[in-house]
Amino acid sequence: MKNILVTGGAGFIGSNFVKYMLNEHSEYRIVNIDALTYAGNLENLADVKEGTNYRFVKCDIRDSATVEKIFAEENIDTVVNFAAESHVDRSIVDPQAFLTTNVLGTQVLLDAAKKFWKLNPDDKYDRSFREGVKYLQVSTDEVYGALGKTGMFTETTPLSPNSPYSSSKASADLFVRAYHETFGLPVNITRCSNNYGPYQFPEKLIPLMLNNCIKGKPLPVYGDGLQIRDWLHVSDHCKGIYTVLEKGRVGEVYNIGGNNEKANIEIVKLIIKAAGASEELITYVKDRPGHDRRYAIDNTKITTELGWAPEYTFEQGIAETVKWYLDNQEWTEHIISGDYANYYDKMYKNA
Ligand SMILES: NC(=O)c1ccc[n+]([C@@H]2O[C@H](COP(=O)([O-])OP(=O)(O)OC[C@H]3O[C@@H](n4cnc5c(N)ncnc54)[C@H](O)[C@@H]3O)[C@@H](O)[C@H]2O)c1
Repeated sequence: MKNILVTGGAGFIGSNFVKYMLNEHSEYRIVNIDALTYAGNLENLADVKEGTNYRFVKCDIRDSATVEKIFAEENIDTVVNFAAESHVDRSIVDPQAFLTTNVLGTQVLLDAAKKFWKLNPDDKYDRSFREGVKYLQVSTDEVYGALGKTGMFTETTPLSPNSPYSSSKASADLFVRAYHETFGLPVNITRCSNNYGPYQFPEKLIPLMLNNCIKGKPLPVYGDGLQIRDWLHVSDHCKGIYTVLEKGRVGEVYNIGGNNEKANIEIVKLIIKAAGASEELITYVKDRPGHDRRYAIDNTKITTELGWAPEYTFEQGIAETVKWYLDNQEWTEHIISGDYANYYDKMYKNA
């Protein structure tokens, strides 16, 4: 059995990944560490039982003593690092949390992996590591910056992040690269496009709009709404990460994307239709500073080299997702009754 440390496993993608692995790949034991920030929600994992295959530990990835203790106790041989501050709007209000969690936290995990996996830890020139270990960094297409009307991000596109969020993710990616180049740590980096699906925190576009539709509240659309994102169902992202864990060439970056470019306003109108709401709810608000205009992922490397392909069509994925949020309004309500309500006012009241 392999022992995989999943960080940020109480968040949107991490909780989907934990469940995917437990259901589909029982050869892995999952140790999930999460600091349970505003975005971490253990209700996402309500149906996952602690036991031989799964353990949860409340732990901040910046806490090197606890991270090292878990590496030792659990004989960790694989890391998948989802833990991050992930919301661009929040990074504009408070960049420092992004720097400390996304960059320093990543470096703490890399150091622990190096310390526990290196065969001769006292020899700084020795690059040999235990068989079968891997560190996988879950990154984002946002590290590449913005595209014009044409073109796509490939793995060799220069990093050109524009927000404090994407800058922190790009910095973390460079540290992951450096630990591979300098120490020989076996790593992969995945860079995925926008995810959608169940358990996404209701500050992100799709659950936010859907929830406002249900409540008959205005739908705040940034600028002209023509910012283009490339959408991928979260379960296809999880399968892509697993594929890279198993088959990815050490040291390589893999883009993960679904060839689904949609303007934000298109998504909003699709949600309005699915929820049976009115387009009159659309309210254009002042654009986010530095808002990237277009992202598009070239997924040729992961599809041709590793044989991964998205299974969801966008139409099927969005229909299922809308149904999930409609059937699970209590889940959203539990979140909204907390910190989220204040945050919402702060972000949109004067926009
Ligand atoms: N959501 C997307 O569309 C998308 C796309 C590409 C890449 N990503 C990347 O995937 C990862 C997960 O994204 P998400 O949308 O699930 O985010 P999320 O905000 O829903 O979840 C992040 C999780 O990390 C935890 N966390 C935050 N700081 C922590 C810390 N210091 N120590 C331990 N845990 C901490 C939070 O409690 C939360 O459970 C992120 O690294 C993000 O950059 C996200």
